[in-house]
Amino acid sequence: MNTVYLNGQFVAAQDARVSVFDRGFLFGDSIYEVIPYYRGVGFRLEEHLQRLSHSLRAVRIDAEADWIAIMDELVLRNGGGNLSVYLQVSRGNAGKRSAVYSDDLEPTVFACCNPIRDIYQDGADQVQGIRAIVVADQRWLRCDIKATGLLPNILVLQQARDHGADEALLIRDQLLTEGTSSNLFIVKHGVLYTPKRSSEILGGITRELVLDLADENGIQYQEIDIDYETLISADEVWISSSTRAVVPVIEVDNQPVADGAKGPLWRQMFELFAGYQRRLMTGE
Ligand code: PDD
Repeated sequence: MNTVYLNGQFVAAQDARVSVFDRGFLFGDSIYEVIPYYRGVGFRLEEHLQRLSHSLRAVRIDAEADWIAIMDELVLRNGGGNLSVYLQVSRGNAGKRSAVYSDDLEPTVFACCNPIRDIYQDGADQVQGIRAIVVADQRWLRCDIKATGLLPNILVLQQARDHGADEALLIRDQLLTEGTSSNLFIVKHGVLYTPKRSSEILGGITRELVLDLADENGIQYQEIDIDYETLISADEVWISSSTRAVVPVIEVDNQPVADGAKGPLWRQMFELFAGYQRRLMTGE
């Protein structure tokens, strides 16, 4: 994972340099994307690029590039296989610290790769259910923008780790929003539920795919408000993200979800997801 992309060049990670006056560093004035590649093939690229455009537009960063060419080349230079590409665009280096920015800054574009597990190749039995805690959502009100100011997410994730849990589920005004880096699903009486799309959650690419697969395969689903009681009395709880796909949550706040085992609807969704991924990889 040694080659990174920085402002038009592929360089060894240890040689990549960004200015201390970069607004990404000073202000978190910066957005990002995380895009999975399985066996060297980009997953839902168009959807990720649409969200990238949404984030850029929302924060008024004017950056254009052949994003797919950059990511494909980066993945190739890192040996292909199962990788996630992290792509960050900051407003750029103003040469000084000033909250006010001018529109003529050259955005800083950085990308690197990280290995990810192809859980669909491994199979459902290999997937470990995770533990979660519920914590107050203290983020800003534009969580639909994939911005790099992740301090609230990082702090509560660490809180979860301190409690022996793997993810924190966030609650605002008595309603669950999402995880620190994942979207939330619950199952009750065979129906799949997820919080409504709003500016309080990220429009997850994996979330959309889960809903599409549910739709195409006759799984009933609804986007609704989910409160704490509904969460802890659910038959199944899942989280979804580009790096973890769809993972069952088997414990919330130290209480097992239902009987504490991976649920049947999760298994069905896992197989649907695996089939979708296989078709995409093999071009069937
Ligand atoms: N995070 N919600 C939040 C707050 C996220 O950070 C993420 C993803 C998601 C899931 O979105 P998607 O399915 O498009 O990955 C939901 C990435 C993986 C990250 O920050 O590393």
